[in-house]
Amino acid sequence: TSTDLQEILTFTTTLAHKAGNLILAGSQAILQSGNVDEKKNSVDLVTEYDVKVEELVKGELSKKYPNFDFIGEESYAAGQRPPLKDTPTFCVDPIDGTTNFVHGFPHVCVSIGLIYRKSPVLGVVYNPFLDQLYTGVKGQGAFLTQRGQGPLKLPLSVPRPLPSLSQALLGVEWGSDRTAHIVHIKGEAFARLAGNPKEGVEGGRMAHSLRSLGSAALNFCMVAQGGLDMYHEAGCWPWDITAGTIIAQEAGGLVAGGHGAPLDNNVNEAILTGRKYIVIRAIGDTKEETGFQAQQR
Ligand code: IPD
Repeated sequence: TSTDLQEILTFTTTLAHKAGNLILAGSQAILQSGNVDEKKNSVDLVTEYDVKVEELVKGELSKKYPNFDFIGEESYAAGQRPPLKDTPTFCVDPIDGTTNFVHGFPHVCVSIGLIYRKSPVLGVVYNPFLDQLYTGVKGQGAFLTQRGQGPLKLPLSVPRPLPSLSQALLGVEWGSDRTAHIVHIKGEAFARLAGNPKEGVEGGRMAHSLRSLGSAALNFCMVAQGGLDMYHEAGCWPWDITAGTIIAQEAGGLVAGGHGAPLDNNVNEAILTGRKYIVIRAIGDTKEETGFQAQQR
């Protein structure tokens, strides 16, 4: 019920702040020690703090909500896809933006999502470096609380309709799969989006620019805030997108999964989120505009 969700929101918000303190402490320690491990390749990074934060979050959630399931990035071996059930399931990325974390680039967050009947219903994303807390609850809107201010309803301003992708600021990511094939496809898509197709001609259809925050959850939140018109990425996992999905949806954004993806949260191929019109255009124009095929959900 909505009362239950409010109670879970209060609990997970406090927990996200605790996790945030551990992330801040860990950042100093890791910057000093340089203790970073690699998962599937040399750009897929993990630190002892990814594991510590997941233990903290998992421990507190399972004590408070023993009947809920738990999916966490560090609890799954690289490449292993968790099955989604109908029961309430917390889906957590303890440190989203691990690469940023080890470099001291301050776009890092803990992302706590709740899935019920295979759909995200609650999301809490907290960036301790900027003290920004994004929350979303199904049917109850999305909010940003920052620097001691009260919650601000998202998006922060009413977005003007954008006639095309060419007037958009787009979020993209290289991700951690750097096989030649993937990098080639992504590079082509980025060039198509950012490059002027008509050399020397005014008004070619190129996006205003591309941005990468280095955290899938924070890209979703930037869409919810209105700072990005769209974000797309291939190769996402449930913990990357659960909390962000409900936050973007509650802010009035559209979220679409990759081609062939089931209409639940278990998307691993491509994810698109943004202003409704822009995402629908992108879905319609996938070949030309993004190189990704997507299906609305
Ligand atoms: C990664 C970040 C990154 C995105 C990758 C994710 P992690 O999560 O969200 O921005 O491009 O797809 O795996 O490894 O920092 O938790």
